[in-house]
Amino acid sequence: MNFTPTEDQLAVQKTAREFAQQEVLPKAAEIDREHRHPAELVKRMAELGFLGMAIPESYGGAGLDHVSYAIAMEEISRACASTGVIMSVNNSLVCDPIYRFGTDAQKQEWLTPLASGKLLGCFALSEPEAGSDAAAQKTTAERDPSGDGWVINGTKNWITNGPVADVCVLFTMNDKAAGHKGITAFILPMDTKGVRCGPPDDKLGIRGSKSSQIYLDDVRLPAGLVLGEVGGGFKVAMSTLDGGRIGIAAQAIGIARAALEDALAYAQQRRTMGKAIVQHQAIAFKLADMATEIDAARLLCLRAAYLKDAKQPYGREAAMAKLFASDVANRAAREAIQIFGGNGYVTEYPVERHFRDAKITEIYEGTSEIQRLVIAGYLAKGG
Ligand code: CAA
Repeated sequence: MNFTPTEDQLAVQKTAREFAQQEVLPKAAEIDREHRHPAELVKRMAELGFLGMAIPESYGGAGLDHVSYAIAMEEISRACASTGVIMSVNNSLVCDPIYRFGTDAQKQEWLTPLASGKLLGCFALSEPEAGSDAAAQKTTAERDPSGDGWVINGTKNWITNGPVADVCVLFTMNDKAAGHKGITAFILPMDTKGVRCGPPDDKLGIRGSKSSQIYLDDVRLPAGLVLGEVGGGFKVAMSTLDGGRIGIAAQAIGIARAALEDALAYAQQRRTMGKAIVQHQAIAFKLADMATEIDAARLLCLRAAYLKDAKQPYGREAAMAKLFASDVANRAAREAIQIFGGNGYVTEYPVERHFRDAKITEIYEGTSEIQRLVIAGYLAKGG
């Protein structure tokens, strides 16, 4: 692994940092307070090439690598975790599987507008009774008796970007008896008849990220919208989530950095007992621990991204990165509130938002318990 960023990676970091600081950060508190989807920031991310970063330019992407993607995700999430997850879902969970499993015709029709940000995507795997147990899909896909297509029925849960998405990577069960080998993925245009979103979820954090249930009532899709093989959907989902976990690790690092940077600035100006609180070891040691853990999390995240770029196995490394980074984000946000004291507990200061935003990184794209299962699985196989 190379510890020296390339010129392209440094340029991405500079662009992302300037955009995040100048355009995203000033709006982050309002986006959270108003539970507002930041459409204007999504448009700007499209202009900057941040919605299909690792997709080749020939399919509308920026033609960059996954290390650059992780770098940009951290910068944007440092300013606003809601904006970060909108970006992460489109890159990791929508563009990536269509790029890896789509036919050329599907890529021309769907990937190109998604990667260039003309369309926004969502990823519908979870269901009311299939969260961690992703193979327990109840949404059915049956052959359409009136043609060569499919008829889909079911309900999807907590679908990030759902209410604002144009396209969905959808998972269904087409052969229950076959278990996970009976799961099939589809590219679902969200304006298809029979598709309806429920009211946006009222969430603890990442309140600018719209998520909801998606109801599928006799949704008819042509065979040309099957993504990958019929019965191959579980592998589409699992391999996609491997990449997604790099994005969420980077999001968590961004949130942790926000907590550290805000706490450091506060500790330098807040005075008790005749000196700035940063001069009390009790506070300085917290900051030192936060900084150390953030660097360790970033190294894990970049290692996973680097392996993905090198086309080497990276599922174990992505799970470790997400597990560790999400833990670091929660600890950093908790310590930041402690450093702010009473001011940390009120919405006038940003750290209570970091605390609320951090929690989801331990839940979505596989809970911390699932990451441990995945890592333990590799250990059991000698990896
Ligand atoms: N890549 C490719 N194939 C994989 C794989 C991977 N990473 N992991 C497993 N598989 C394959 C296995 O090889 C196996 O295939 P074979 O039968 O051909 O050998 C098959 O999948 C089944 O594997 P398991 O027996 O390990 O599967 P399982 O049913 O026990 O489940 C699990 C494993 C890790 C618990 C999985 O269910 C899981 O990851 N759960 C968490 C789901 C999740 O992360 N959901 C997130 C929802 S999306 C989201 O959160 C987005 C958002 O809001 C932002």
